Amino acid sequence: MKSGWYCAFTMKNKTVLITGASAGIGQAVAFDCSKLQAHLILVARRVDRLKSIQKKCLQLGAQSVQIFKLDVQDTKEIQNFCKTNKKILKTVDILINNAGLAKGTERFQDAQPDDWDQMLDTNVRGLLYLTRGLIAPLIKNQGHIVNMGSVAGRLVYEGGSVYCASKFAVRAISDGLRMDLKGTNVRVTNIEPGMVNTEFSLVRLGNQQKAKAVYDDMTPLSAEDISETILWCLQRPSHVNIQELVIYPTDQASVGQVVRKGK
Ligand SMILES: NC(=O)c1ccc[n+]([C@@H]2O[C@H](COP(=O)([O-])OP(=O)(O)OC[C@H]3O[C@@H](n4cnc5c(N)ncnc54)[C@H](OP(=O)(O)O)[C@@H]3O)[C@@H](O)[C@H]2O)c1
Repeated sequence: MKSGWYCAFTMKNKTVLITGASAGIGQAVAFDCSKLQAHLILVARRVDRLKSIQKKCLQLGAQSVQIFKLDVQDTKEIQNFCKTNKKILKTVDILINNAGLAKGTERFQDAQPDDWDQMLDTNVRGLLYLTRGLIAPLIKNQGHIVNMGSVAGRLVYEGGSVYCASKFAVRAISDGLRMDLKGTNVRVTNIEPGMVNTEFSLVRLGNQQKAKAVYDDMTPLSAEDISETILWCLQRPSHVNIQELVIYPTDQASVGQVVRKGK
């Protein structure tokens, strides 16, 4: 059940670009923006998924939905994407830098350097290069950048040094962007969730059973919970910037502090 202010708000004149829109939080944000009649630009690597999400977004009320295959790990691919689609990207008002992942939980001495590269290239370099590519329209349109941080960007945990480093970087970049963009009216919000039940744990652990066990006997956040939070930030009046928002499930007091009912 949505409250009155939510229903009254429309995104009819807004173009929203969402990275990692093929699953989880990105997909949920795409659906919520569609209900508010936004124009959408959705990017991810899995285009088959984007195609069915595009169809659903149009059914939900999106005014237009353009989809692009983009691997944000590849800085050249991002630069080409920005160059080739300059005309479309000029319209972007809201950038949701959501694409990201964690790989592995091994201790530093046992971890795979390839996993480190993938996390840093996706979560940090991808966000940096795409934001740089879109910064001119975002300034011109007095836009809003929403970065997907994490509680892992506030607290480090065992087996998570590089994922945490990537999210600490996202938090630092969000803070720095806010300073560098002051006076432009561009807003920058860093969203920092705890445990959200998406494909995140499957990607991290590479095993459905292990991924399911992460959320055993507790109630995690859903992608929709995070999407609603993002939409709330976007709907604040233009003089209000929610700089950081930390959101945990009630069953998680802090990183590694999870209540498992029945245990
Ligand atoms: N779930 C959590 O507990 C949690 C908590 C805090 C923060 N976060 C953050 O929230 C964000 C979204 O994660 P999620 O939970 O929704 O996970 P998810 O369900 O696995 O979705 C991740 C999305 O990122 C995209 N992605 C990954 N690598 C990419 C690449 N190289 N290029 C383009 N897109 C890429 C994936 O699309 P393709 O595979 O199709 O490319 C997918 O759409 C991430 O930044 C994550 O770090 C998640």
